[in-house]
Amino acid sequence: MTKQAIPQVPNPVPTTSAHKATANAHAAPAVTLFSTPTATEETTMSTSMKPSNVTATAAAIATATTPSETRPLRAPKTSPDPVWTTEDSVDLYNVRGWGKGFFDVNTKGNVVVLPTRTPGAEIDLLSVVEGLRERGLKTPVLVHFSDLLEKRLNDIHQAFANAIKEHNYKGEYIGVYPIKVNQQRRVVEEIRQYGMKLGFGLEVGSKPELLAVLGMTSDTPERLIVCNGFKEARYIEFITLAAKLGRTIIPVIENLTELKLIVEYAERYQIRPRIGVRVNLSTPGAGRWRHSSGAKAKFGLSFSEVLEVLEYLRARGMEDCFELLHCHMGSQIHEVRQVNAGVNELVRTYVQLAKLGAGMKYLDVGGGMGIDYDGSQTSFEFSTNYTLPEYAATVVYRAMSVCDEEGVPHPTIVTESGRAMVAQQSVLIFDTITADRPDRTRIPNELPALKPGEDEMPRPLLELFDTYKNITERRLIEQYHDACEARDESSRLFSLGYMNLEHRALCDAIYWATCAKIRDKCREFHETPEELEDLESLLSDTYFGNLSIFQSLPDIWAIRQLFPILPIHRLNEKPTRKATIADITCDSDGRVDRFVDSRDVKKFVELHEFDENQPYYIGAFLVGAYQETLGDLHNLFGDTHVAHVKYDGSGNWWIDEIIEGDAVRDVLSYVHYDVNTLLAQVRRECEKAVRLKQMTAAESQSLVRIYESGINGYTYLERDIPSSEG
Ligand SMILES: Cc1ncc(COP(=O)(O)O)c(C=O)c1O
Repeated sequence: MTKQAIPQVPNPVPTTSAHKATANAHAAPAVTLFSTPTATEETTMSTSMKPSNVTATAAAIATATTPSETRPLRAPKTSPDPVWTTEDSVDLYNVRGWGKGFFDVNTKGNVVVLPTRTPGAEIDLLSVVEGLRERGLKTPVLVHFSDLLEKRLNDIHQAFANAIKEHNYKGEYIGVYPIKVNQQRRVVEEIRQYGMKLGFGLEVGSKPELLAVLGMTSDTPERLIVCNGFKEARYIEFITLAAKLGRTIIPVIENLTELKLIVEYAERYQIRPRIGVRVNLSTPGAGRWRHSSGAKAKFGLSFSEVLEVLEYLRARGMEDCFELLHCHMGSQIHEVRQVNAGVNELVRTYVQLAKLGAGMKYLDVGGGMGIDYDGSQTSFEFSTNYTLPEYAATVVYRAMSVCDEEGVPHPTIVTESGRAMVAQQSVLIFDTITADRPDRTRIPNELPALKPGEDEMPRPLLELFDTYKNITERRLIEQYHDACEARDESSRLFSLGYMNLEHRALCDAIYWATCAKIRDKCREFHETPEELEDLESLLSDTYFGNLSIFQSLPDIWAIRQLFPILPIHRLNEKPTRKATIADITCDSDGRVDRFVDSRDVKKFVELHEFDENQPYYIGAFLVGAYQETLGDLHNLFGDTHVAHVKYDGSGNWWIDEIIEGDAVRDVLSYVHYDVNTLLAQVRRECEKAVRLKQMTAAESQSLVRIYESGINGYTYLERDIPSSEG
């Protein structure tokens, strides 16, 4: 497949200047019963906090919250605003919770990205979509914000630098980026470039990843490359030769066969290898990927195997080559005490190995630093109950205290955080095609008259209509039960052949209208009775988005991951609809029916009334980690377009690179179709139809032209969406 890269699109599009919403962005946060993060992550914890306090604080937060999806309720709004403002939208979608100062809403009601977290220095997402549209690029589109990525790398580096300074730690810090988290060439290149001055390295988990990394890092031989994953002889020979070339490359042993191969190739090529070992800690892993460590872990050596490695090397006078100890506790670790416990066990092993004569230099704590996807800053699985500075302080302090206790020099701390580096830099934007409303049906004032041959109205229909007409807030639950019973009865009668299709359809319509009436009454109350809670989601609309969940947000389908999803415009308008989102694949799993909320997981998202003459763009945020690589070709919907957007620091943004998404031709060739053969076949069939006078020559040409342009077109719906400016 060839992707067309269009570098350096000129014509910068000016953004709006500073505005009220941004000024407000850093004003008082929304009132809540428990602490929610403020706009800037750094402000949430002083790095002077000793980790004993750190742990206490984390524990306090952890006890104030629960690890499940149920979290403490926020204080109800006592006086609802009569007029909807952008601040209401900010609050509703918890933008400042998960946005961490990188995302906000401007006074126009559009979502803005603040790539450097500088108030006023922002990019209006709607203007990006419009800018792309002017350049012929339609949604869905994945937008990468390069400056945000750079800022994030700086923040991670700074958090560790602060913790190192604060605790007078004598070792250094190196962040290595595991390229599997987002292998897109442009993303890896940027991390390499921005990470240059920060001393960051790269991590690979396979031979293809190593080949990519070696080819792009020739000018930075001193930068650390960590090689994880299973390795056969050829992979290890390659690592050995790369070391001979002068690269700082450390293979991390996953089993004892690899060790023997490393020693064998080191002898053959006459080098002194650097060797790392992945240990399988007994501390259970955390979160959804907790089996990455602990008794049933797939990777890593047991403690006795680690000692075997040391003995094997010692027997050859190579114990000094054993330089790095690594563990990986799982991804999206949501509790800081898990970090604390895991790092503690890793350092304890490290100091013992150092004392036994291993040449220990690097303590590699693996990946796992989480992202606060719902902005609640709790121990919920798609949140984290710690901040970046707290994570760094925990790792540094734990390493320092154990090493000091045992009189071992402080190691260089290595992290393999991937998600934490790249999740925030990407936003997926898609257009809405249509919206389906279950409560749209109009119910007549009277039931229709009996038709000839019908002797009486079916009883369930009469009962449903009666319930519908007489909804009263004093008997809501009872009336809901009545409606359910009558509807079940109508379904039974229909199955037995005692009710006709018109009456059955009317029963259904009246049932849903009754539910809608009951739901509307519930909305007037402070609390909805538990029995009626599901009505909101049952009656929610379905908005159809021009995207494939399987291609662009696969973790929503695979692991029920939550991402912030909200409209990127009209946020100065009250969203009056509650909806789930369905994609354009022919698969009922291709939908989003769980949405972030600072207090719970919502079964719907608030959206605006859909007008098919107006564009309605929805954004999925924090999608930069894992999604692009894991996405698949369900229904042959391919990669979306990708736009790399940069900010010039003075109010302008520009499109630095566009990588066009898959054309139909590309996805067909992935699954081994020869497009030319297909086209030739269609042409032949058209000719035959002309010969048989089934169609005219002009009609056959139209069909061929449509076929050809379809083959070269985008795999998503290519609709002519009007400009949002009208
Ligand atoms: C060995 C290793 N290192 C690093 C990572 C990256 O983890 P994360 O993206 O959670 O930081 C992974 C991911 O699972 C991994 O397996």
